[in-house]
Amino acid sequence: MKRYLITGASRGIGRAIAETLAADDAELLLHGRDTVALALTRKAVEPRCAKVVLLIYDLAKPSGVCDLIAEVGKGPIDLLVNNAGIAVVKPFTEITAIEWEQTVGVNITAPFLLTQHFAPRMPPGSSVVNILSIAAKSGFANWSAYCMSKFALEGFSQSVREELRDRKIRVINVYPAATETDIWDNIEGDWPRHKMISPQDVASAVAYAISRPADITLENITLSSLTGNL
Ligand SMILES: NC(=O)c1ccc[n+]([C@@H]2O[C@H](COP(=O)([O-])OP(=O)(O)OC[C@H]3O[C@@H](n4cnc5c(N)ncnc54)[C@H](OP(=O)(O)O)[C@@H]3O)[C@@H](O)[C@H]2O)c1
Repeated sequence: MKRYLITGASRGIGRAIAETLAADDAELLLHGRDTVALALTRKAVEPRCAKVVLLIYDLAKPSGVCDLIAEVGKGPIDLLVNNAGIAVVKPFTEITAIEWEQTVGVNITAPFLLTQHFAPRMPPGSSVVNILSIAAKSGFANWSAYCMSKFALEGFSQSVREELRDRKIRVINVYPAATETDIWDNIEGDWPRHKMISPQDVASAVAYAISRPADITLENITLSSLTGNL
């Protein structure tokens, strides 16, 4: 049986990945904070999965990540999807120290700690998938905290990819453009949701990448709408 750990599986892209990877031979370790939303993900995947485990932890603090790791236990996992993320979008002059720290905690430190713990225990052919963003490649006005975090994760994961290559563990970086999820609910502005790609589009790309033969790695996947970036 394969064991897949997906952070931020309670909604959006994480939930879509969980739904897409659900299979008879898979144990899904699904993380989130919102117990009601995570239960909905469980309901959607449980009939098609060998086993589902819910992991309710706040990843903004390292202690939450450590508790999650302890609950997952010693058994190896075959896939880690670093997906949970937050977007603080405002002029850089208005970003508070707490917002900055939370962005670093959820978007950078949590993937670092999870990768550091799980990757060395993964069997050959396993994958670490990082859900980055086109904001890992370009800066955008008012997105400085978010871009900072995605650029940082990009540098970390590019380097880790080289460290894991000999062990036959794939590091797959995914760069979605604007994707129609709840993340936009708290971002000021009139964003054209109809121009966004869907979370299922991102999930399909992840499923395709990890389904490649074990000696093939689809290292970087950029997904955008043909209508262009917002
Ligand atoms: N939507 C886009 O346009 C877009 C584009 C490119 C990349 N991305 C990236 O895709 C990933 C998923 O985003 P999404 O659009 O699916 O967002 P979303 O719908 O807002 O979901 C975010 C997920 O992250 C979890 N999360 C947020 N803060 C957390 C915390 N402190 N501790 C633990 N979990 C936390 C949420 O858990 P709870 O809800 O349970 O709290 C939720 O499951 C993020 O890394 C985001 O940066 C998104």
